[in-house]
Amino acid sequence: MSLGGKHIVLGVTGGIAAYKAAYVARELLARGAEVRVAMTHTATKLVGPLTFTGLTGTPPVTDLWDPSYAGEVHVDLARWADAIVVAPATANVIARLAHGLAEDPVSATALCFDGLLLVAPAMHHRMWQHPATTANVATLRARGTHLVGPVFGKLASGDEGVGRMSEPLAILDALTASLAPTAPRDLASLDLEGVRLLVSAGPTFEALDPVRFLGNRSSGRMGFALAERARDRGARVTLVRGPVALPDPRDVEVVNVRSALEMEAAITARREQLDAIVMAAAVADFRPREIAADKIKKSDGDDAPTIELVRNPDILAGLGAWRASRASERPYLVGFAVETTDLVASAQKKLERKKVDLVVANHASVAFEGDDNEAFLVARTGVTPTGHVAKTALADRILDAIRDGLATRGSLGAPKS
Ligand code: CTP
Repeated sequence: MSLGGKHIVLGVTGGIAAYKAAYVARELLARGAEVRVAMTHTATKLVGPLTFTGLTGTPPVTDLWDPSYAGEVHVDLARWADAIVVAPATANVIARLAHGLAEDPVSATALCFDGLLLVAPAMHHRMWQHPATTANVATLRARGTHLVGPVFGKLASGDEGVGRMSEPLAILDALTASLAPTAPRDLASLDLEGVRLLVSAGPTFEALDPVRFLGNRSSGRMGFALAERARDRGARVTLVRGPVALPDPRDVEVVNVRSALEMEAAITARREQLDAIVMAAAVADFRPREIAADKIKKSDGDDAPTIELVRNPDILAGLGAWRASRASERPYLVGFAVETTDLVASAQKKLERKKVDLVVANHASVAFEGDDNEAFLVARTGVTPTGHVAKTALADRILDAIRDGLATRGSLGAPKS
């Protein structure tokens, strides 16, 4: 979608990712937006204001008290803006936005503004996980602020975790999606309000050497549809995504992983806090026993190498066993089964073997590509055929089953530990 004619204020705050804000500005302009930039003092230390002057043709606002400006610059900027994008948004500025503090050009402009505010957090993962930040983010979300990211990856400190700013193109996609006209939100459809749901999506890639891997054809579309529909129905969603070419959904915590072991670690770290987990990912059952440190070379005359595989953990079965060991019904567990024969019978076996609540069984011929699917929802209470439906409609049917399952257990809307 084009942003033709839209007035966008880009708020840049003092995280290392500030250098990527120049790329965000350039992409906004490329999509037809008019861009004005506001920067905090710290941001000006990390990226030169002149960069933004060069890109947008207008000097950024870096000082609320600039004597050369006749009016109140934050008021004028907010009046001009159709949307404000804060990228990167530090923990500090998120706290200021949540509490209505207005001591810098970015937060002062945001406080004058009642339109679309999109925030792209970037910080060390410990700051992101701190209860203070969690509470501030919840305040912003409750007020209608949109968030994109942060995502999992290498952080400025060298540590790894959820805290990296979403990539500029993902921020642009989130902005265009947020600005797209949508049907008025039907409050009655917020039936997953307060539910904490994790969805895994896409394939896993199992490395052979620094450039090669074993993978599969999973597109990730089913898992993404589940994450987006759950978000629209009020759930707090974490999407653990293997390598797929889809843009990050907005207002969803996105954790990027590559291998089955990384996926398992990301899910295990969160499982205590969740009401439901849907394993829509096509997790590789096997991985190479060893990952060659250097690229494997062919040498003339040699036979083809033999690659020895070892089993990956079955993440879903592990979750089922963990839950059974605690004699708990939380989180509600959903698996997928792709079969070529005996769809329902195989799914029923999987339900028992993996100790889960629901298995979504689909035929291999429809499971991977395309926007449609045809499935059976297999639970202990019965089998429901879905007929031929779009992946978003199937996502809703699965979420209905989760909602009903949680309600039966009395955990829908229950206070969370
Ligand atoms: N799954 C998982 N970890 C694995 C493999 C699969 O969590 N290592 C999950 C998938 O995300 C899916 C479900 O288990 O939700 C079913 O996986 P599938 O590969 O269809 O079944 P398997 O258990 O591998 O059984 P089989 O290969 O016999 O069909």
